[in-house]
Amino acid sequence: MRSYYIRTFGCQMNKHDSERVAGVLEERGLVPSPAIDDADVIIFNTCCVRETADERLYGQVSSLKALKTGGRPDVIIAVGGCVGQRDGELVFAHAPHVDIVFGTHNIHELPALLDAAESGRRTASVLPSGDRFASDLPSHREDAWHAWVSITVGCDNHCAYCIVPSVRGAERSRAFEDITAEVGRLVADGVVEVTLLGQNVNSYGRDRYGQPRFAELLQAVGSSGVARVRFATSHPKDLSPRTIAAMRDIPAVMPYLHLPFQAGSNRTLAAMNRGYTREQYLSLAASIRDAIPDIALSTDIIVGFPGETEDDFAQTIDLVERVGFEHAFTFIYSPREGTPAASMSDSVPREVVQDRFDRLASLVQTLSYDANRRQIGLVQDVLVEGPSRRDPTVLATRTPHHRLVHVPVPDGASADALAGRILVARITGAHPWFLSGEFVASTV
Ligand code: SAH
Ligand code: SF4
Ligand code: F3S
Repeated sequence: MRSYYIRTFGCQMNKHDSERVAGVLEERGLVPSPAIDDADVIIFNTCCVRETADERLYGQVSSLKALKTGGRPDVIIAVGGCVGQRDGELVFAHAPHVDIVFGTHNIHELPALLDAAESGRRTASVLPSGDRFASDLPSHREDAWHAWVSITVGCDNHCAYCIVPSVRGAERSRAFEDITAEVGRLVADGVVEVTLLGQNVNSYGRDRYGQPRFAELLQAVGSSGVARVRFATSHPKDLSPRTIAAMRDIPAVMPYLHLPFQAGSNRTLAAMNRGYTREQYLSLAASIRDAIPDIALSTDIIVGFPGETEDDFAQTIDLVERVGFEHAFTFIYSPREGTPAASMSDSVPREVVQDRFDRLASLVQTLSYDANRRQIGLVQDVLVEGPSRRDPTVLATRTPHHRLVHVPVPDGASADALAGRILVARITGAHPWFLSGEFVASTV
């Protein structure tokens, strides 16, 4: 039987898309291969949001050359996702042993592309835009208990540094009924957690005049019987008081919010075209903490945007301290060709950026560690994700606030059989990036 292997880079959209690529391939009769070197069809689902992601792709693809030139000339290598969308046929010039290039809007064309590759034709097919939602395609979910559900595709914001709008296209919202129907099917199929996906979920429904918006969608999904509802990502300028109220009032919506602020100074925020000021962000964060006092807040931050001064950076540090994020993802600014920021002068010297990045990373680590230490002794509902990747005698579980808790697999229990169960655990130890815990006896 022919087999496939998918390597996924980038964000949750790509993870979701990869589940659909797997679904489409399995419908065609292919089976998953545990190892990349044994697969007949190898797919790279790519990201180009930062230069490092790009470079990794081309490095990994070229390391497969040996496979094709050494005894397995029939292996099919496909490059999809955001690099496929951006580069199209140029991928062949960078990596001549690639057979198929596809973009972010045409996963459904994969069977036809495979037909062409199997008959020896190299094909690049990239649609300029599309109305297909990945969630409408067949799927092979990575975890039986979790599902990604796309609610919007594309992005209508034009953050000056960001390539995403040009590879994912304009923002389109999926029909409300299609989303709720899919969630209903997932619940019937045993899914206990769904993550609603969009580059900016808060603008859901903006392009469907008179239709329900994100707060109503949360209401509907929250009352579908699914135990946990999460979503990503929220743009601060579009997070409405109604959405905050929905998060507060709907028990299934988890007390965790990822709210990227990107930069702390008004000058940088304006240059980034983010559409809010630091004062607006701070007051939004305060109103969220007022409404939901124990919420966990996380964020994305870019260091070294063109023109960033020491004073601008001090304001980023200050904002992080004031909000006291439970977690933050920090990135070094990476110029992306074709974005407005790429042609801005005044780039910040590499060593200066690295020094700022290190200072920020150490603050973020301290905040996460402090937040984790405050959890010791608490008793929490934790969702079992499965065995920990590093130690199969330990279960990886998540609290409602999305904190990772490692709990020893109970005697006689199987880690895989417990995946998807919600159990009660006591937090016994804190580390910078995870917690240790034990199950409360009566729950296992
Ligand atoms: N739509 C989401 C996520 C976009 S990409 C949002 O708006 O929040 C995820 C993160 O990558 C962004 O939040 C940003 O912090 C980072 N990012 C995007 N473009 C970047 C670039 N050119 N250089 C460095 N980081 C970047
Ligand atoms: Fe990129 Fe901004 Fe859109 Fe997020 S909101 S995807 S950062 S353009
Ligand atoms: Fe990367 Fe594309 Fe996501 S560029 S961050 S995989 S939308």
